[in-house]
Amino acid sequence: MSSDTKIACVMVGLPARGKTYIAQKVCRYLQWLSVSTKVFNVGNYRRKLHGAHQMHSFFDPNNKEGEIARREAAAEALKDMLRWFEVENGTVAIFDATNSTRERRTFILNHCKKQNIQVIFIETVCQDENLILQNIMDVKLSSPDYKDMDPEKAAEDFRARISHYEEAYETITENDFTYIKLINVGSQVVINLIQGYLQSRIVYYLMNLHIMPRSIFFSRHGESIFNLLGKIGGDSDLSPRGRKYANALPKLIHENLGNQPLTVWTSTMRRTIQTSEQLPYPKLQWKALDELDAGVCDGMTYEEIEERYPEDYANRDEDKFNYRYRGGESYRDVVLRLEPVIMELERQQNILIVGHQAILRCIYAYFHNLPHDELPYIKIPLHTVIKLTPKAYGCAEVRYRVEIDAVDTHRPKPQPKPPKPVINGNSISSSNLTNVAS
Ligand code: ADP
Ligand code: F6P
Ligand code: PEP
Repeated sequence: MSSDTKIACVMVGLPARGKTYIAQKVCRYLQWLSVSTKVFNVGNYRRKLHGAHQMHSFFDPNNKEGEIARREAAAEALKDMLRWFEVENGTVAIFDATNSTRERRTFILNHCKKQNIQVIFIETVCQDENLILQNIMDVKLSSPDYKDMDPEKAAEDFRARISHYEEAYETITENDFTYIKLINVGSQVVINLIQGYLQSRIVYYLMNLHIMPRSIFFSRHGESIFNLLGKIGGDSDLSPRGRKYANALPKLIHENLGNQPLTVWTSTMRRTIQTSEQLPYPKLQWKALDELDAGVCDGMTYEEIEERYPEDYANRDEDKFNYRYRGGESYRDVVLRLEPVIMELERQQNILIVGHQAILRCIYAYFHNLPHDELPYIKIPLHTVIKLTPKAYGCAEVRYRVEIDAVDTHRPKPQPKPPKPVINGNSISSSNLTNVAS
C-alpha cells in the first residue's frame, strides 16, 4: 500500500440494512491495524442542521424542502470528509448514508476524484423482512430521531421512511464504479473493479462478516511456573494452582454454553495446551497466538530487565505499544500477526481462546475498540474467563473469576515523576522538602 493511498468507502442501501453496523466494523478493524480511518455519518449532520425529530415525510422524495435539506446534510458531511483527507492526511473514510440514487453517488464520486481519492461503494441489499424488523427494534427505536417517542409509533414511522426511500432507490449497476454488493448478509457477494491491497483487505473483511448470535470466550492459561517466579516469556508448565484452573475450566464453560458447539484455540505453548487439555471440544493450535516475543529479555523478571537494560525498560514505559524488545516484538508487531486470527474469528461461531496476557489484550482491544495507548495495560487477570457477546454496534461482556488464587502479572503504567520543586532557581530533593517547608 503506498502511503498516499486515500480511499472513501461509500455505503449504499435502504435504511436498516446494516450500513452503520458495517461502517463501524470496518473502521474498528482498520484503526486496530493502525490505518487512519474515520466514519462520516450523514444522519448526524442532518440532525445537527435540521433537528432530530424529523418524521417520515421529511424523507419523501416528493418533498422538495426535505430533499434540499438532506442534500445539504450530505454536502456538509462530504465537505468535512474531503477536508479530513486533505488536512489530517486520513487514509480511509467511510461515508455512512443511504446514497441510494445514482445522482447522489455520482456527486460524491466526482468530488472525490478531484482530490485523487479512490471510491469504493459498499451496498447492502436485504429482503429478509424479519431481519429488517429486528434491526428496527434493535437500533432504530433507540436512535435520537425517536427519543421519547412511543416505540410502536416510532417503528411505524421508520417503516414509512423506508417506503419513501424505496420509491427512489436505485441499486448499483454502474459497471465503471468500484463496488461490493452484499446480498442478504453476505450469502451472495458481487464485487466489481476492486484494485490494490487495501481495497482487497476491506473486501475480504466484508466477505467474512456474519451476524449470527455467538459468544467469544477468552481465558489466559492457568498460572504457570514462570508466572510464580515473576519471569516473562518462556515455555514453562502450569503451576499446581494453574492445573487446578485447567480442571475447573470445563465445568465453567459447560455451565455457560450448555451443549452448544464450541471450538478451542490455543497457542503452541505448553501452558495454553495444558490449560485446554480437559476441554471436550475440537481444538486448534495457532502459532500466531504465541505470547509476545520478549527477545533477549525472555525468561527474565521485570527487575532483571530494569537492571540489565535500564534504557530499554524506560523506553517501554514511555511508549509500550511501539516498544520492540531487542530481538523480539512490540505490541504493534503482535497486532499485525494477529490479523488472520481476527479474520477467522469474524467467520466463526462460538470460540474459546486460551491465550496469553499480551495476545488477549490485542484481541480484546479489537472487540472493544480501545486505543493503542491503552491496549498494553488492559487487565486480563489469570484464572478468569471473559465472555464477549457481539451486539448491534458493540460487544456485551461478562467476566467469570474462578476461585483459585493466582499471582497478579499486571504491571500498571508508572505515574510520571512529579517535577522537582524549585526554590531560588535551585531544585531541592524531596528528602529535605519537609525541613524547607516547615
Ligand atoms: P442502517 O445503517 O442501514 O440504517 P444499521 O447498521 O443501523 O442499519 O442496522 C444495524 C443492524 O443491522 C444490526 O442489528 C446488525 O445486526 C444488522 N446488520 C448487519 N449487517 C447486516 C446486513 N448485511 N444486512 C442486514 N442487516 C445487517
Ligand atoms: O507475565 C506474563 C506475560 O504473559 C509474559 O510472558 C509477557 O512478556 C507479559 O505477560 C506481557 O505483558 P506486559 O506487556 O505487560 O509485559
Ligand atoms: C439520514 O438523513 O439519516 C441519511 C442517511 O441521509 P440520506 O438518506 O440523505 O443519505
